[in-house]
Amino acid sequence: MRLAAEELKGMKTMNDLDKFRVKYLGKKGELTLVLRGMGRLSPEERPVIGKLANEVRTSIEDNIENRMKQLAREEQVQRLEKEVIDISMPGKRKNLGTKHPLSIVVDEIKEVFIGMGYKIAEGPEVELDYYNFEALNTPPDHPARDVQDTFYITEKILLRTQTSPVQARVMEKQKPPIKIICPGRVYRSDEVDATHSPVFHQVEGLVVDKGVTMGDLIGTLKEFAKALFGEKTEIRLRPHHFPFTEPSAEVDVSCWTCGGIGCRVCKGEGWIEILGAGMVHPKVLKMCGIDPEVYSGFAFGIGAERTAQGRFNIDDMRLLYENDIRFLRQFK
Ligand code: DAH
Repeated sequence: MRLAAEELKGMKTMNDLDKFRVKYLGKKGELTLVLRGMGRLSPEERPVIGKLANEVRTSIEDNIENRMKQLAREEQVQRLEKEVIDISMPGKRKNLGTKHPLSIVVDEIKEVFIGMGYKIAEGPEVELDYYNFEALNTPPDHPARDVQDTFYITEKILLRTQTSPVQARVMEKQKPPIKIICPGRVYRSDEVDATHSPVFHQVEGLVVDKGVTMGDLIGTLKEFAKALFGEKTEIRLRPHHFPFTEPSAEVDVSCWTCGGIGCRVCKGEGWIEILGAGMVHPKVLKMCGIDPEVYSGFAFGIGAERTAQGRFNIDDMRLLYENDIRFLRQFK
């Protein structure tokens, strides 16, 4: 019996236990054979051996049952350990991208102008020389047409150097009143540095109607500047020359860092140039089939990079193109 108890401890599975039960208690089991041989015992021996054999059987059965329960518990513990879920493990996070600072700013500009009733217009980046220059009153000897500035594809086809050709395309197709903006990519043969890139972005604006004045232009640009750079922002127009506007101006906004006192960002000026603008040249209106005696208009071209740099205090334009995720993640 002690032997059986020792053996029982070694049983590792339910299957083993079953075999053990058969070995002792089965039809040909050791104990069964003992009980079967009882007939050959003397009448005095029989009750003694019978009692003993029964005790052994009960003991073995109890032991088997205990071991069975124990095994069942062990198996459960093992299963639980295997199936355990480590709730302290970080989950799989979906990495959502963020909007590029340029896109954020262009979307903001769009929103401001859509709020003022403008529609969004589009034009091709691979453009005809005619729309990029000629229709915009830019004669063939104008310095802007220099091959050093413009990427020519053929003599008549180029990568647009400005979004202004969209003005001509819209005016050709649409009769006044016209009120559009056109955000887009433009190209110039420039070396990359902190303030230049061969590919950059502009937002063109054009308004043509009866009785449009310079006052309308100034009021519009003031609204735009305040919406993007804050209520306290002022604008300043400096006389300039663009072939397609008369009069023309370069437009500055009061410095977004110092508010106009003069600091490192505005190089002590208090003002930062962000766009060109003017009253649409009568020749341009005429070339696009609009009577300058009846209609007048204003136009502007906003530098998107400049605006983004101001909006987010970015001191080097190259940061906008390097796609460094540590930089881009800051703009939510
Ligand atoms: N196209 C000009 C540039 O790239 C910017 C500009 C100036 C656009 C005056 C205009 C404008 O529409 O009226 O420098």
